[in-house]
Amino acid sequence: MFVRNIIHRADHAQVLENPDLLAEVRQNIEAGDIYVFERVIEPSSLLALRNYLSQIGSNSLPNYQKIEPGCPNFHRINVWDPRSYVQACFHQFVFFPWNQDIFNLFELTKDVYAMRNSITGLPKEKFLGPTPEDGCTARIAFQFYPSGLGGMNKHRDPYDHHQLTVPTVTMSQKGTDFTSGGAYAENAAGERIYTDEISDIGDVVYFNSQIPHGVETIDQEQKVDWLSFRGRWMMLVAVNKLVDNSQIADAVDLEKLSLSNQQK
Ligand SMILES: [Fe+2]
Repeated sequence: MFVRNIIHRADHAQVLENPDLLAEVRQNIEAGDIYVFERVIEPSSLLALRNYLSQIGSNSLPNYQKIEPGCPNFHRINVWDPRSYVQACFHQFVFFPWNQDIFNLFELTKDVYAMRNSITGLPKEKFLGPTPEDGCTARIAFQFYPSGLGGMNKHRDPYDHHQLTVPTVTMSQKGTDFTSGGAYAENAAGERIYTDEISDIGDVVYFNSQIPHGVETIDQEQKVDWLSFRGRWMMLVAVNKLVDNSQIADAVDLEKLSLSNQQK
């Protein structure tokens, strides 16, 4: 499964209300198209969030938290932690629907969840309640990739009853906030389509979670400075399995996999 076409649309709200258009989007995503829905979230809200999260990240200790019912919102740093399914380097801020938050994030992203659920063939509000459903929960993750170090190995995400696509909200402008690298998805020729180059702050990008994708190191030549929050931000509007759910497969790190095949 690889990227086929890139489709730009400005009618997120209308598609959401139109079963025929939804069926078309679903079919095209299944076939590999990337959808960029423009200006779904107000860019000023996202810039305010970047500022808020930078302050939290600078002034409290990062700590990891397992995905369990009722668990707290948290932030953590992951610096190529070998315990992760996919090797990555970022500062992550995680929010669950059972906790209240200042920005009312699940209201802000309600239409994005409705779209990803509709595309997956599920009711619009699935996984958004205060208790998990089918061993899964909605989970918003902001990921900040620092210039000089931030990135994520190429991987595939689970494609199952709970998701066909993992929507991402663009929160940084390539060329202004950072210069090189960024999130990409591969086409059949092995070329990288950089999603930050085809979207603006506030746009939502949807593609098939089976397409190999990753985050190429941000501004590789720069020296890392975690506390400057210079680099690339994004928001994942995700649904994740709970820690004890063994029915859904884990994400597959394609770089780790090819390394272990070489060693055999
Ligand atoms: Fe992913």
